[in-house]
Amino acid sequence: MISKSVFENQFVIRNAKLEDVIQMEYVQSQCYPTLHESEILNRKHFANHIKIFPEGQIVVENEGKVIASASTFRCNFPEHDSTFLEETDNLWLTNVQVPDGDWLYGIDMGVLPEYRGLGLSKELYKARHDVCKSLGITGQIIAGMTIGYGKVKDKMTIAAYCEALEKKEFTDPTITPQRNAGFIWIRALYNYINDPEAGYASVLMYYPVDENYSL
Ligand SMILES: CC(C)(COP(=O)(O)OP(=O)(O)OC[C@H]1O[C@@H](n2cnc3c(N)ncnc32)[C@H](O)[C@@H]1OP(=O)(O)O)[C@@H](O)C(=O)NCCC(=O)NCCS
Repeated sequence: MISKSVFENQFVIRNAKLEDVIQMEYVQSQCYPTLHESEILNRKHFANHIKIFPEGQIVVENEGKVIASASTFRCNFPEHDSTFLEETDNLWLTNVQVPDGDWLYGIDMGVLPEYRGLGLSKELYKARHDVCKSLGITGQIIAGMTIGYGKVKDKMTIAAYCEALEKKEFTDPTITPQRNAGFIWIRALYNYINDPEAGYASVLMYYPVDENYSL
């Protein structure tokens, strides 16, 4: 299980506990202002994730308060495109969790706005990397929201935005931190998530434990 202090012991990164779920719900409420309510995780979802895959649920604590949260499940590599709700078993994870699956699928990571830009998401991705190593998992997969599209949506299509993003012609508040943490672009997923600011899209990416591994 994960438990470590970072940044001169200011923050503790550890596995989530049932007592954290109300605070995890609060973090969630502050991190996805334009995501449709049907795709927002609540305390019951978090409690179920902790029950079915405790190693994959991680929080950051600061002065006794949960200020960031990250959820994953274990699966085989997704062969077909799907939607966020399909991929997550309508957010519950119960029917998509594969106990001996080769990949760690990150379905959510949120850092409270006042703690952003400190490097906490990088630390959380590293913690997930450690989970992969300790469980013998090949690597992480994520579908990163193209949330920066909202700023340019009147000027270009979401497909044009994703093409430019892939070539690093723009930075994006979500995709850029993920790529800076080590994720490798696979492809854009259109009609994946119910968020108009993200153009309803996400980018499928992977981060293998073995740096020589390639899909
Ligand atoms: C995405 C998110 C988790 C990033 O968390 P964070 O702790 O602020 O990110 P970090 O401080 O670890 O930044 C990591 C890297 O990304 C860069 N970065 C961070 N925010 C950025 C932004 N808005 N635009 C461009 N680059 C950014 C940092 O400069 C850093 O790069 P470097 O260390 O290589 O220089 C956070 O912004 C968040 O909670 N967003 C809302 C929820 C969300 O979109 N979650 C992901 C869903 S798929």
